[in-house]
Amino acid sequence: MDFESKADSLLKLMTLEEKVGQMCLYTSDWDVTGPSINRGYEELIRAGRVGAIFNAYTTEYVRSLQKIAVEETRLGIPLLFGYDVIHGHRTIFPIPLGQSASWDTASIRKSEQIAAAEAMSQGINWVFTPMVDIARDPRWGRVSEGSGEDTWLGSIISATRVKGLQHREHDYPSLLACVKHFAAYGAAQAGRDYHTVDMSERSLREWYLPPYKSAIDAGVATLMTSFNEISGVPSTANQWLLTDLLRNEWKFKGFVVSDYTAIEEIIKHGVAKDLAEAGRLALKAGVDMDMQDEAYQHHLAGLVQKGDVNEADIDRSVKRILIAKYKLGLFDDPYLYCNPERERATLLTAEHRSFARKFVSQSCVLLKNENQTLPLPASIKSVALIGPLGDSKVDMLGNWSAAGRAEECVTLLEGLGNNLPESTSIKYVKGCEIDSEKNDNIDDAVRLAASSDYVILALGEGGYMSGEASSRSEIGLPGLQEELALAVLKTGKPVAVVLFNGRPLSIPKLDSLAPAILVTWFGGTEAGNGIADVLTGKYNPSGKLTMTFPLSVGQIPVFYNEKSTGRPIDPSQPDEKYKSKYLDIPNAPLYPFGYGLSYTTFEYSPIAINDTVFREGEVIIASVDIKNTGKHDGEEIVQLYVRDLIGDVTRPLKELKGFQKIMLTKGQATKVTFTLTLDELAYYHQDMHYGWDPGEFELFIGTSSDDTRKVTFTVR
Ligand code: NOJ
Repeated sequence: MDFESKADSLLKLMTLEEKVGQMCLYTSDWDVTGPSINRGYEELIRAGRVGAIFNAYTTEYVRSLQKIAVEETRLGIPLLFGYDVIHGHRTIFPIPLGQSASWDTASIRKSEQIAAAEAMSQGINWVFTPMVDIARDPRWGRVSEGSGEDTWLGSIISATRVKGLQHREHDYPSLLACVKHFAAYGAAQAGRDYHTVDMSERSLREWYLPPYKSAIDAGVATLMTSFNEISGVPSTANQWLLTDLLRNEWKFKGFVVSDYTAIEEIIKHGVAKDLAEAGRLALKAGVDMDMQDEAYQHHLAGLVQKGDVNEADIDRSVKRILIAKYKLGLFDDPYLYCNPERERATLLTAEHRSFARKFVSQSCVLLKNENQTLPLPASIKSVALIGPLGDSKVDMLGNWSAAGRAEECVTLLEGLGNNLPESTSIKYVKGCEIDSEKNDNIDDAVRLAASSDYVILALGEGGYMSGEASSRSEIGLPGLQEELALAVLKTGKPVAVVLFNGRPLSIPKLDSLAPAILVTWFGGTEAGNGIADVLTGKYNPSGKLTMTFPLSVGQIPVFYNEKSTGRPIDPSQPDEKYKSKYLDIPNAPLYPFGYGLSYTTFEYSPIAINDTVFREGEVIIASVDIKNTGKHDGEEIVQLYVRDLIGDVTRPLKELKGFQKIMLTKGQATKVTFTLTLDELAYYHQDMHYGWDPGEFELFIGTSSDDTRKVTFTVR
C-alpha cells in the first residue's frame, strides 16, 4: 500500500481527539541533569494527544518518549522529534550568514549532511531549518541565520541546504527539513524583530518568496509560518499565503507548522478575539500543526462540534502529518534513530571537526589588508592577542547552538597556540568586556601591544547579540571596544583586526585606522583553528560578503541591487543638490555585497560575449580570462550580474545571475565562462506576468558587485 492509502486507513480508525493530537507539537526541556518533559505533556502523549515533540534529543531520552507513544497509546502512532539544528548539531559550523560568505555550495551541503547525521544519531527526525528569509536590514538580529540580502544566491543556498539535510545515505532514512519563516520575516520594519512587514506583491514575489519556493522545489518536507504580518494579515492566519500560493500555485505537499505560539499571537495582532478564533483562522489559512500553543489541543474538537470547523480540514492536515511519518519509516521502526552505538560513533568525529575547520576558513572575509599586514609574517616572535573575543568559548558557538558545547570550541587564543611555531610567544589581554562600559584593562592591553611585534585585535559582538529577539539600533562595536582598538592602534604596531559578528557591522572609524580587518562571524567548534589557518596564511581567504556592510545605520536599508530612482547622482557632479543622496554621508556603503579580498590578486580581462543580439531560444555566453597575479595560490569567486536598461517596471541597477568559485595557483590563468538563457532575464511586469522583454541589457562580470567589467547586448 502507498503512504497515502496507509494514512487514509489509519485516519479512519482515529477519534477526533486523536486526530487533533497529531496536530500538536510541544517542547521538552533541558535540565542540568539532561532532557526532561513537563508531566502534563507526558500525560498528553500517553493519551494520544501529541503528534510531535521538539527540543528533545539523545537516543535514550527520545526512545523513552517514543515508547510511550508507541506502546501506551491506543493506536501507537510514533512521534516526530524536532530540533533547531541551524548550523550544525554537536559539531557546530559557522553561522549561516558566515557559511553563505563562502559561496561554497559543496561545503554548505556537506555541513548540512553532517548536521543531519549527528542530529539523527541522537533521535531527531525533523529539523527546523533552513531559514531562508532575505534581509536587507542588518539591525535585524536574525540576519545571522540566513544567507544575506540576495534572492538569487539565497535561492541556490536554500535548495542546497534542503538537499544536504534530506540526503539519504545507503538504506538509512533521512530526516524532515523545515523551510522557514514563511514569509518575508526578514523584512521587519526598522529591523525590529517580529515587527510589521508591508510591501507590494511585486516585491514580495520578486525579492522575498523565491528562496522558499526553491526549498519546495528541492523537496523540503515541511514549512514553518512566520510571526510577522504581511500587509495587514498575520502570516499564520494568511489563507492567500498558506493555501492559494503555497498549495494551489506552488503545489507544496508537505505539512505546515506554526512558529512558536504564533497562533496565539494572532490575537495580539488584533485579528482574532480569543484562542479558539485564532485556532480557527490558522487552520482555515492552512496551518497543519500547532507549535506550543494550546489552540488546536483545546479548541479544534469543540469548533468541529459547533460546526465552525470542518472535520475534513482536520483530516487533510492529519493526513499530511501521517504521510510524513510513513515516509520517514517511523511506522516500521519507531526507534530507528535511537541507536546509542551509532550516536557515539557519529557525534563530533575527527572528520567532522576537520571539515568544520576548513569551513571556518572558507567563511572568513578579508575586508582590508594594507601593507600586507596579513598573513602573519614568519619573522614575528611575539604576538599580542587583545580583545574580549580572544578567548571566549561560548561566543564561538553563536546563537542556535543545538547540541554544541562551549567547552568543545577552540578559541582564537587556542587556535593561535595550536598553529603558530612554538618559538612565537603569544600573550593575551582582554582589554574590556564585550558590551560593558567598565574599563577592565585597556592600559594593560596597550602595554602588551607596545612590547609585542604584532597585534591581533579580537573584537565584535557577543554570540548572543544576534539571532532571535536580538535587534540592535546601533551596529558598531559594543561597549568600550572601539576605545580599546584606537588605543592599541596608536602604538603603531602592525595590527590585524579579527571581527566576530552575527551581522554586518558599521565600523567606519575602525576601518579608517586599522590596516587589516578579517570578518570571521561565529565559527563554531573549530573557530579558533580555522581563523588561525587564515591568519597564518595556511588558507588564503576567499569569502565574499553576502550582505552589505553599511557606512552608517542611517543608510539602512542599503543593498547592492537597488533601483536607479528618478534622480540618481551624476558621478561627475557628486555635489549637485536635488539628487537622491544624503547631505552628510555618501550613498555607497562601507563594503558592498560580493566584496572580499585575497592574499593574492586577480586580473580580469575584458568580457567576451558570443553575440550582441539575442533572440528567443538563444543562449548568452560570456567569458573572462582571469589571472592570479599575486604571490599566493588562491580562490576567487567570480560574479555575473545583469541590468535590464528599460523595463515595463523599474529594474535594479545590478542583479546577481551567476557565480563560479575557482582556484588559481600563482601565475595561473583560466577562462571563466557563464551561460545565461533569456528566461533568466524575466521579471514581474505591471500586470504581474513573469517574463522577459526585448531591449537593451548590461552584463557585468567581476570580483565584487561594485568592481566589474561590462558589456551590453540587445534582446530582440
Ligand atoms: C521560534 C523561532 O522563530 C523558530 O525559528 C524556531 O524554529 C522555533 N522558535 C522553535 O524553536
